[in-house]
Amino acid sequence: MRTIRVKLDKRSYDIVIGTDIIPLLGKYIKKLDIGNSAYIITNTYVKERCSRGLIRELKKSGLNFKIKVIPDTEKSKSIPVLTAVINDLAKFDLKKRVFIIALGGGVVGDLSGLVASIYKRGIPYIQIPTTLLAQVDSAIGGKTAVDLKEGKNLIGAIYQPRLVLSDCCLLKSLDIRQLRAGLAEVIKYGIIKDSRLFTYLEREYRNILKLKVLALERIVRSSSLIKADIVGRDEREAKGIRTALNFGHTLAHAIEAAFSFKKYNHGEAVALGMLIALDISQSLKLINSSLNKRVESLIKKAGLPTKIESIRLNELMQAFYRDKKFSGAKNRLVLITGLGKVKIVENVPLEIIEKALKNRIKQPSVLRRAG
Ligand code: GLY
Repeated sequence: MRTIRVKLDKRSYDIVIGTDIIPLLGKYIKKLDIGNSAYIITNTYVKERCSRGLIRELKKSGLNFKIKVIPDTEKSKSIPVLTAVINDLAKFDLKKRVFIIALGGGVVGDLSGLVASIYKRGIPYIQIPTTLLAQVDSAIGGKTAVDLKEGKNLIGAIYQPRLVLSDCCLLKSLDIRQLRAGLAEVIKYGIIKDSRLFTYLEREYRNILKLKVLALERIVRSSSLIKADIVGRDEREAKGIRTALNFGHTLAHAIEAAFSFKKYNHGEAVALGMLIALDISQSLKLINSSLNKRVESLIKKAGLPTKIESIRLNELMQAFYRDKKFSGAKNRLVLITGLGKVKIVENVPLEIIEKALKNRIKQPSVLRRAG
């Protein structure tokens, strides 16, 4: 077991990583003194597979609890679901000291964090992430949000959890596509900050894909260390440090949006976004082709896409312009100058971005040959 501290003065908290650690939850809740009634937000899939140990532990610790199940879809990150959950929570809360447990992936975590941030002007919450993506990324850092039809994550707050409990046993129930999506974020950490993690992934990707707990624990640990350090130094993305975490993401958001969030999940789009950012880094002579090839090979081995399905370049560029990180006439991209080294570059010439995007789109002739 390993504990990593996110250092934010009075709002500091622990990320506890290990296998079979749900039985420790009662002890942490007592130590944190956050209340006697747990309102658990989860989805049907996770409830069936992951909630038994949690319920046993809450009963053993003499805590009241209620489980609120929300639909397992991005649509749960919406104002109607937010309001429904808050109404239900208010009914449960009568005369109790209530706190929230987010048991699930990014959708559950983002919604729960936002509920916790606004209910009674803020109540404590604990993240128990059940996907690799949530354990390495979305459960850490305090960004909470729901979507509007005008865009994703437009209503939100930065509100830190009181504890993140990452039990790698919970990942055993992940389907392969979700596992791969999480792996994209782990690859990102390797590229932006940790060449040893990157080499580990090159060596051990098979064990990770086979859900070997030791390998999973190793990558969750390294990724959490990086995220905790970055969030501790630049919680509100005001110093340019947290911006490094956006590597591949600006382009990923454009790809997700251009396909109406239907074709690619977030991790798959991040894999493509990272490759395009590397292509741009190479065009600007910040790196040579060997790093690009190494990353592409790892992304392939992870079973993630390296080419974008056939789409008009224009549609991708329109989605790129609409992204909130593209302000005014300026674009701002996280690029790479070597393994583990990032550089934020503003005003990358549009021809270079267009060329990089175009080269990553599958050409119809290639499709015909493949068919
Ligand atoms: N909740 C994810 C983040 O703060 O980055």
